[in-house]
Amino acid sequence: MAEPLVIEARDIVKSFRIPSVRRETVREHVLGFFRPPRVETLEVLRQVSLEVHRGETVGIMGRNGSGKSTLLKILCGIYQADAGSVVVRAPVTPLLELGVGWNPELHAVDNVMILATIMGMTLREARASIEEIFAFAGLEKFANLELKYFSSGMSARLAYAVAFTAVRDVLVLDEIFAVGDAGFKARCEERYRALSAAGHTVILVSHDPTLISTFCDRALLLEGGQIVMNDTAEDVAKTYLSVSSHAAEDGAFG
Ligand SMILES: Nc1ncnc2c1ncn2[C@@H]1O[C@H](COP(=O)(O)OP(=O)(O)OP(=O)(O)O)[C@@H](O)[C@H]1O
Ligand SMILES: [Mg+2]
Repeated sequence: MAEPLVIEARDIVKSFRIPSVRRETVREHVLGFFRPPRVETLEVLRQVSLEVHRGETVGIMGRNGSGKSTLLKILCGIYQADAGSVVVRAPVTPLLELGVGWNPELHAVDNVMILATIMGMTLREARASIEEIFAFAGLEKFANLELKYFSSGMSARLAYAVAFTAVRDVLVLDEIFAVGDAGFKARCEERYRALSAAGHTVILVSHDPTLISTFCDRALLLEGGQIVMNDTAEDVAKTYLSVSSHAAEDGAFG
């Protein structure tokens, strides 16, 4: 029997209103000063539906601007959809943007405490996990250094280590990964396997076909705000590779 659904999204629609500032002539620039900016609506997700079962590892691929991060933010409750419904039946730990929750003036160890509690740990759990988090990140020596002295790769490793440790049920990761070195990537891959073996649900956005086909059971391909493919991770990774290389030849995004 199939595992129960932990995420059930139906017909999600999301648009953003963005200022349209196309001023080509001097006259337009001068007049633009006095007129309110024109606004246009950008339809980012169109009737997106997806279901994720407990314990699944689902990849999401798609070219730049296809709507992946917006979809994750809606699933995690950071954005609200304009239409459609989202039901999430398990606690979700999101790692969507690096830097959210970090304070560069504080020591790394205090930042970890803050991020861990934002991600749902109690203070007591966070305190008890500090060593494990710094060990996973390979940054034990830097625990008492202010975060402003960390390289972007070091901060990313620390954020990953917190998310991997804090996760209770569903882990949602937006690709931010390219930052880690080979050793850290190997540790993350090992952790994906362990999470999956322990029955966690993982949703992973990535442009990396190897990562998606190695770790995901299934993947979705987003194109222009719509899911155009929902298949095995290998097939989606292969299709994404050919779509994005054609797009590169055509000079499109991705
Ligand atoms: N807060 C926002 N306000 C206005 N427009 C936005 C906002 N967030 C995203 N967009 C627009 O929505 C579209 C989809 O963005 P999104 O970040 O979801 O793409 P993505 O698939 O994650 O791309 P990438 O691969 O580059 O991360 C883009 O055109 C982007 O400019
Ligand atoms: Mg994105």
